[in-house]
Amino acid sequence: MIVIANWKQNKTFADLKEWVEIFDANVNKDILDKVVVVIAPSFPLISPFKMITQAYPYIKIASQDISRFEAGAHTGEVGAFQLKNIAEYAIIGHSERRKNGETNGDVTQKFTNARNAGINPIICFSDENELAGFSPDIRSSLNFAYEPANAISTAENSTGPISPDQVKNMVEKIGVKQVIYGGSVDQNTVENYLNLPFIVGFLVGGASLDPLSFAHIVNKSANS
Ligand code: PGA
Repeated sequence: MIVIANWKQNKTFADLKEWVEIFDANVNKDILDKVVVVIAPSFPLISPFKMITQAYPYIKIASQDISRFEAGAHTGEVGAFQLKNIAEYAIIGHSERRKNGETNGDVTQKFTNARNAGINPIICFSDENELAGFSPDIRSSLNFAYEPANAISTAENSTGPISPDQVKNMVEKIGVKQVIYGGSVDQNTVENYLNLPFIVGFLVGGASLDPLSFAHIVNKSANS
């Protein structure tokens, strides 16, 4: 299993140490051979978070996005090559970015840039239309995060988590072998999805902001 904390536009430098200490004190160390723990802070926090987590090498880092450009005159962009050796993963194509105009073409370029920098792309999709627009290369990637946009807690019109049966129907319909599931997963709802064999992880937003609650999600994920 892989359990990813997507902190979104939350947290400051001052929050990092305490978050890690509380998380580390509550995560069950015996399950860390079964669960990969990944935290995705905002860009300015990635480097200090990397420093702090050197004492906790089981914690891996993801960026919440990367630039579609390789390098150069692109003000405000952060390139995959700049995250090399800092982030092991990059979340790409999140529905909250697509809402701001990100296209499948952008996602494809980001995917390529991440791969070229040795960063594992975690490709998000929220419905079959988004998935259908991906190149075969992307479709063969194993790190797919299925996040129905209306199940994401911070989305407008959020309907909350969807049922395991709905996830199952979608996965069968689109024909991917495995998905990371995201959308209002918390320490209470995570158990609903643990019996679905094609779910290989969780992408957790709101419930990852609290280190204790995220530790509970990670601990429970080992029971799949
Ligand atoms: P949520 O966010 O857990 O707050 O619904 C998940 C995500 O958007 O990655």
